[in-house]
Amino acid sequence: MRFNLFKKNKTESEKKEDNYLTLRIRETVRETPDTVTVYFEQPEPFLDYKPGQFLTLLLEIDGKQERRSYSLCTSPFVDPFPGITVKRLKGGLVSNYINEHFHPGKRVTVMKPLGNFVSDYHSQNKRRYGMVAGGSGITPIMGILKSILVNEPHSETHLLYCSRSEEMIIFKEAIETLHEAYPGRLRVWHQLSQPGPAWAGACGRMDKETIKSFFSNLIESRELETRFFVCGPEGMMATAKTTLRELGASEESILSESFYLEKEVNEPNEALTELVSRPVTIVLEGEEHAFDVEPGKTILEAGLEEGLDMPYSCQSGLCTACRGKLLSGEVSMMEDAGLSEKEIAEGFILCCSSKPSNSEVKVNIE
Ligand SMILES: Cc1cc2nc3c(=O)[nH]c(=O)nc-3n(C[C@H](O)[C@H](O)[C@H](O)COP(=O)(O)OP(=O)(O)OC[C@H]3O[C@@H](n4cnc5c(N)ncnc54)[C@H](O)[C@@H]3O)c2cc1C
Ligand code: FES
Repeated sequence: MRFNLFKKNKTESEKKEDNYLTLRIRETVRETPDTVTVYFEQPEPFLDYKPGQFLTLLLEIDGKQERRSYSLCTSPFVDPFPGITVKRLKGGLVSNYINEHFHPGKRVTVMKPLGNFVSDYHSQNKRRYGMVAGGSGITPIMGILKSILVNEPHSETHLLYCSRSEEMIIFKEAIETLHEAYPGRLRVWHQLSQPGPAWAGACGRMDKETIKSFFSNLIESRELETRFFVCGPEGMMATAKTTLRELGASEESILSESFYLEKEVNEPNEALTELVSRPVTIVLEGEEHAFDVEPGKTILEAGLEEGLDMPYSCQSGLCTACRGKLLSGEVSMMEDAGLSEKEIAEGFILCCSSKPSNSEVKVNIE
């Protein structure tokens, strides 16, 4: 079953302009042996983003289009050019490609910035911000940190940052510079899991004790509103969030960003065992598209097979690039980590992780 109702007459290039941008690489800066920051020239008009959001890059590698999300490490309040920081992953296709093949002048297609790992900033705010970062998880936190320091003279920031070794500390000098530029407003604790012999600082994995000793005063003295930002490897994030809750931090005060989820293999899932095809209608750029979702497929997979230019990136429920609003019907959503509770309550779903549960499903994708 297939039909299209043309509500608006947008050309293909207009539709592309709504969602995608072409950015020109201005500069690449090696941060550590396995991490590079890529700065882009400002497009016209300037890139509109919030600190902590991410770009989804669309790259053609070996004749196949690949999409990956990378957090902006910059702050629109401070940095003249937007940048992303990419850490090589062993055997990783895109992270190694970027580290090896990105150079000034190259043009890259990106989706417009997305993400909920954001805050509001105001010169009158008097808050305490606790930040827990591991490895490349420092990337969005760096943009947020700079934005707080420059915008909120009455707020304090406390950064707990775990890296493997001293040479692997991303933004080491930039953090030191901020520490000196904002005396008394940035407290930093570096923890190394595999330090070299010259390291005189804290060692070991980021465990409950470290998190407790760094943050307990912050939470106990409840004079100021406290907010937490957590980003890093899955295990570290789980430990950090549990420990902060145990210390008394409220659920709403802890924001986190996941780069990757370990998937359970052979996890029994009702939706996967559903054996009937169900019709779905997608409203994309004002046009309605109806198609069937075969058993075992997600709404995104079925839509892409229909040839629809549905937005997506991680395909694992993390990045929200495939977010849509459920206008009718019900879906079974296997992973909703990228959505806030408010978004879920408002009826937003992630098409990459959703399967229709009845035959009334209609989803609007803006
Ligand atoms: C919202 C968001 C923001 C992100 N921001 C950043 C960022 O600022 N900097 C950055 O370097 N990365 C970031 N990532 C991760 C990035 O999108 C890619 O997943 C990462 O670069 C790996 O891609 P790849 O093509 O190199 O690896 P792939 O070829 O996709 O994967 C290779 C293997 O590694 C596994 N794998 C994939 N990702 C990870 C991971 N993160 N940890 C452990 N194993 C993994 C895969 O299952 C596979 O087995 C972000 C991800 C999301 C969803
Ligand atoms: S494509 Fe990333 S959440 Fe769906």
